[in-house]
Amino acid sequence: MGAIAGIVGWIFIIALLAGVGIIALELLWYRLPAKAGSERGYSRRIALVTGASSGLGRMYACLAAERFKDIDEIWLVARREDKLKETAELISGTTRTLVCDLSAPSDLGKLKSVLKEENVRVGILFNCAGLGKIGDHDSLSIEQQTGMIDLNCTAAVKVADMCIPHMEKGDHIINVCSTAAFQPLQKLGIYAASKSFLLKYTRSLRIELLPRKIMVTAVCPYWIKDTEFIKVATTRDKGVKHFLLASDVYTVGRVSYRGAMIGLPVVTPGIICTIHRFFSKLLPDTVLQYIWGGVRRI
Ligand SMILES: NC(=O)c1ccc[n+]([C@@H]2O[C@H](COP(=O)([O-])OP(=O)(O)OC[C@H]3O[C@@H](n4cnc5c(N)ncnc54)[C@H](OP(=O)(O)O)[C@@H]3O)[C@@H](O)[C@H]2O)c1
Repeated sequence: MGAIAGIVGWIFIIALLAGVGIIALELLWYRLPAKAGSERGYSRRIALVTGASSGLGRMYACLAAERFKDIDEIWLVARREDKLKETAELISGTTRTLVCDLSAPSDLGKLKSVLKEENVRVGILFNCAGLGKIGDHDSLSIEQQTGMIDLNCTAAVKVADMCIPHMEKGDHIINVCSTAAFQPLQKLGIYAASKSFLLKYTRSLRIELLPRKIMVTAVCPYWIKDTEFIKVATTRDKGVKHFLLASDVYTVGRVSYRGAMIGLPVVTPGIICTIHRFFSKLLPDTVLQYIWGGVRRI
C-alpha cells in the first residue's frame, strides 16, 4: 500500500513539474524575437473590452488605459450607453463606445464590420461580458438558461473569432471565465457548464495561437461582491444563500490583469479560486458537488 502511495505521489509531482516547465517554455517562446509583422497597414491599435459598462470589464478598461502601452484607443462594448459613457469618463485616453447586445447576431455582425472597415489591430481583447442565473431547470425559464449560453459561450467565441484576424504577435485575448468552470454546480448548472466550456475553449485556442505568438489567458475568479453580477444572478430560487468570502473588483481586476500580462494560461485571482482549482484536479466531481451542496446552503 505504501509503495502504491509513493508511486502515485511521484507521478503527481512529475506531472506538476512537467506542467510548470511547459508553461515556462511557453512564456519564453512568447518573448523570443519574431519575423517582422504583417504589412496590413492597420489604422491604429485598440483594446476591445466587452462588458465594459460595469464591474470587471470597467476595471479592465481602466487598467488597459493606464498600463497597456502602444494602444491608441479603448473600445468599450456593452448594451447600456449611459454606463459605457461613465466608464469612458474614467479613462484619460481616447475611447469609443459601441452599444451592442452580444446575444444578438445582428449586433455581433455590426461589430465585426466596424473592425473590418476601420482596419484596426486588436492589441488586447477582454472578453468580459457574461451573466449567471441562480436556479435549476424548474425555476429558470428556458430563455434564462439559453441566455447564459448565448452570451458566455457563443458571443465569447464570436468576438474572439472576429478579433483574431486583426491580431499580430504579442497581442492578447483574455477570456473571463469563473471558478465555477472547475466543477459542475447544481443551482448554477448552466452557468458553471458555460464557463467550463469557455475555459476549455480558451485553453485550446491558446495552443492554436501559440505559433503566432498571440497570448490567450483564462481568468477564473471566485464571487466578486461589488459588481452587478450577483444582483443579476439572484432570482426567486435561493439556491445560493450567501456569497461567503466574496472578493472585490479592485483586487480581482489588478491581480488577474497582472497574471494575464505575464501570459499565464489560467489565472485564479484569489485564495479561494486557487484552492478550488487545486482540489478540482484531485477530487472526483461527485465529491466536489456534495461539498458545494453544503457550501451553498450556509
Ligand atoms: N461577479 C462575480 O461574482 C463573478 C465571479 C466569477 C466570474 N465572473 C465573470 O466576470 C465577468 C464580469 O462580470 P462582473 O462581475 O463584472 O458582472 P457585471 O457587473 O454584471 O458585468 C457584466 C457586463 O456584461 C455586460 N453584458 C451583459 N449582457 C450583455 C449583452 N447581452 N451584450 C453585451 N454586454 C452584456 C453588462 O453590460 P450591459 O448590461 O450594459 O450590457 C456588464 O457590463 C462575467 O463574465 C462573469 O461571468 C463574475
